[in-house]
Amino acid sequence: MHRAVCPGSFDPVTNGHLDIIERAARLFDEVVVAVGVNASKSRLFSADERLEMLTRACAPWENVRIDTFTGLLTEFCVEQEIDAIVKGLRAVSDFDYELQMAQMNSHLAPVETVFMPTSPEWSFVASSLVKEVATFGGDVTGLVPEFVREQLVARLAEGGETR
Ligand code: PNS
Repeated sequence: MHRAVCPGSFDPVTNGHLDIIERAARLFDEVVVAVGVNASKSRLFSADERLEMLTRACAPWENVRIDTFTGLLTEFCVEQEIDAIVKGLRAVSDFDYELQMAQMNSHLAPVETVFMPTSPEWSFVASSLVKEVATFGGDVTGLVPEFVREQLVARLAEGGETR
């Protein structure tokens, strides 16, 4: 059984994330989408909301499950018997930091990092940018699942308070 993790903040999940998760699910027997919970960082959506959104968005893929983790990703990998961390790379600018994290993670635990190039149609999509565009009333249709867009617009209409 080859098990991989797709870790991230997913605040909120984008179509770029889903592209990576779907492709990872074709390569590995099981994919765990792991929502990083960092109590010192405030997010637009709570960990439970992010988990619910991912559960709904990943429902079509039978070998994908969603979980949350706190602390080190490598500890989660060891606990869950995960062999590989899958990370999407949008551009060369992602590479420096991702390489450093991959090397630190392999120093900490016997886990491989697999870099997957983002499909070109999503290479400009990032949760942070989606939130910024939506904050100023821009249209993010097609960049996130429709139900996520609706939740995003609703949250921003409430004042966009972080959780
Ligand atoms: O979506 P993001 O914000 O790019 O996700 C980053 C995340 C959660 C994958 C990364 O920050 C992480 O792995 N955090 C867990 C803490 C950890 O293991 N830090 C050491 C990394 S070398």
